[in-house]
Amino acid sequence: MSERTQVGIVGAGPAGLVLAHLLHLRGIESVVVELRERDYVEKRVRAGVLEQGTVDLLTEMGVGDRLAREGLVHEGLELRFGGRGHRIALSELTGGRAITIYGQQHVVRDLIEARQAIGAPLLFEVEDVRVGELDSERPSIAYRHGGERHELRCDFVAGCDGFHGVTRGAVPDGVLTQLEHEYPFAWLGILAEVPPSTDELIYCNHDRGFALHSLRSPELSRLYLQVDPDDDVERWPDERIWEELHTRFATDGGWTLNEGPIVEKAITPMRSFVVEPMQWGRLYLAGDAAHIVPPTGAKGLNLAVADVRVLADALAAWYESGDDAQLRDYSQRCLRRVWRVQHFSWWMTSMLHRVAGADSFEQRLQRAQLEYVCSSEAGARTLAENYVGIPD
Ligand code: FAD
Ligand code: PHB
Repeated sequence: MSERTQVGIVGAGPAGLVLAHLLHLRGIESVVVELRERDYVEKRVRAGVLEQGTVDLLTEMGVGDRLAREGLVHEGLELRFGGRGHRIALSELTGGRAITIYGQQHVVRDLIEARQAIGAPLLFEVEDVRVGELDSERPSIAYRHGGERHELRCDFVAGCDGFHGVTRGAVPDGVLTQLEHEYPFAWLGILAEVPPSTDELIYCNHDRGFALHSLRSPELSRLYLQVDPDDDVERWPDERIWEELHTRFATDGGWTLNEGPIVEKAITPMRSFVVEPMQWGRLYLAGDAAHIVPPTGAKGLNLAVADVRVLADALAAWYESGDDAQLRDYSQRCLRRVWRVQHFSWWMTSMLHRVAGADSFEQRLQRAQLEYVCSSEAGARTLAENYVGIPD
């Protein structure tokens, strides 16, 4: 079956769904094709911190009602090391900007509902997706759905299919430069049915490794432990996780961590990855398809949204006036933010994790950096303005 649309979007994660809705608001048609089933993408537990700019955009797009009701606005965070906590006053340091805690799967659910409410095409469980003729004016997306083969002809293809997707691989060899950095760390993340033991996120540096206390709601806590990249969740029974969390978060003042049933447990490796440029022919890569950041800066989802905001504006300019200047500028504009965020995420990661084999000199440098951020307004402001998100 042969079909036609203006923009073909591969992947229904935050990047693909936000792009589809932004295009709809500008009167541009799109079709979104997604490998997984709806239930799976709506339940996939991942990021939880939304920058001010992400919240503002979702609100302007008309998909922010539940976010406004259920999102938890945070005006500060805690850095904990040497048995003491230090508050970073995010909002005071950034002219009133803040972050909002709202699970990525809820962002995705809200966008899917909005897409269905307008009756626009969003296909789940597509198979064997292939993109082609990307260097022509009529690129295509071929896929199988409901037992039939389809071919979708488009003006543009948006590769929003994440790090393991197929679109990046469709670019001929030698066109894209891949820049990568591996970290000798991974995070063991849990979701626990217990009221959070803290009102604000705690990023904790400890001799035994990094720990993070985040949350999802007044009843749900999200916690992470630095583990080795080759570690296995099977080696982490619930009691061992709680014991390790108690040890790493302990303060001189006797802080208490509430325990509860663990309802989700997974290990995520950590890497930095960027492709340059983020475009070839009529294929535009966005979000994790083009770049990965380590989670310590809480940026992955926000960066995906920032990309498609630029892309939607550029496509709208092309459809309105045939002007392709913004499309030509897409990659360069996105990469400026990508590299700022890569640096911030790398810096947070290096400042907070335990590096196996680090000598005493390196350990003292790490402590000096933490103390500077917590004692100097300039140091704290650098963290704060990056954490809440640097405006365009
Ligand atoms: P994705 O959310 O990956 O969406 C891509 C979509 O494309 C998926 O739905 C996928 O099923 C679909 N797809 C893939 N291949 C195909 C294909 N061939 N055809 C059609 N569809 C396809 N960030 C944080 O800030 N904090 C965190 O704690 C955090 N935890 C994470 C944990 C994990 C396990 C992972 C993988 C990521 C995590 N991230 C985290 C990063 C953050 O979730 C991502 O940056 C964000 O999801 C990027 O959105 P995206 O839309 O670009 O990609
Ligand atoms: C989360 O709540 O899942 C979370 C928070 C902060 C991070 C990463 C993940 O840096």
